[in-house]
Amino acid sequence: MNEQSRKALYDTALEWTYESGKHIREKMENTYNVDIKAHQHDLVTDVDRSVEQFFRDRVKKSFPAHRIMGEEGLGENVEDLKGTVWIIDPIDGTVNFVHQGCYFAVSVGIFHNGEPVAGIVYDVMADEMFSALAGKGLWLNGKPLPQLADTSIDEALLSFNNGWMMKDRRLEELVRQSRGIRSYGAAALEMAYVACGRIEAYISFNLAPWDVAGGYVLITEAGGTVTNYTGEPLTFLKKDTLLAANASVYHTITDLLEQAGNETR
Ligand code: IPD
Ligand code: CA
Ligand code: CA
Repeated sequence: MNEQSRKALYDTALEWTYESGKHIREKMENTYNVDIKAHQHDLVTDVDRSVEQFFRDRVKKSFPAHRIMGEEGLGENVEDLKGTVWIIDPIDGTVNFVHQGCYFAVSVGIFHNGEPVAGIVYDVMADEMFSALAGKGLWLNGKPLPQLADTSIDEALLSFNNGWMMKDRRLEELVRQSRGIRSYGAAALEMAYVACGRIEAYISFNLAPWDVAGGYVLITEAGGTVTNYTGEPLTFLKKDTLLAANASVYHTITDLLEQAGNETR
């Protein structure tokens, strides 16, 4: 895909994401159905489905050869990243959407033959559009964002769900050494916050490709590091753990986790 086509794709995805946000705000003025998926932490609404449908219809009409991997399953069953693939989370942070009416995002990651092309995370209620065009930079509401600067752990805000500490007690060391821990309940937004330097790292033990695809492009474009929790590259084809961080903080975190592991052995 040449540079011009990549930019055109990015511009189109940006336009559709703004449109999807408008659609969500309109839908919120009326009642919508909420269903429980796997368990009480996992909700889906009519709005999630209609946003995914909106992207599906647009992509199929304008780019019939492109495939879609979406959380609500309205796209294809994507098992490889050949050709152009849109990885979409129509609403990331559905529990926040239902309970709080804010702190949720539309997330879009576009890959071509496995290489990132564009990443978009839109905080609909704050009207904050985080976007990246691979190799060209990243922007917040159209303003360029700088590359992430080195930061020490004692000046770093880290984000993870408290529940993860029950899975890995070594995370307590990060609580002790960092400036503070946050938890926003929307993976895509937390990754966008890493990309723009509002927080220095985000850790999770259970995320799907649509949770991370948009944020991955943002963070890598900002010079940050994104792998799974054991340091392997993400495949965007299966659920995985995540360690996404400012590059300097990424290294400090992996060192601290290793040291904490040695101490408890
Ligand atoms: C969820 C959110 C949440 C994360 C979950 C995700 P959803 O996405 O990103 O922060 O902890 O693992 O499934 O279901 O709201 O799109
Ligand atoms: Ca999600
Ligand atoms: Ca979702």
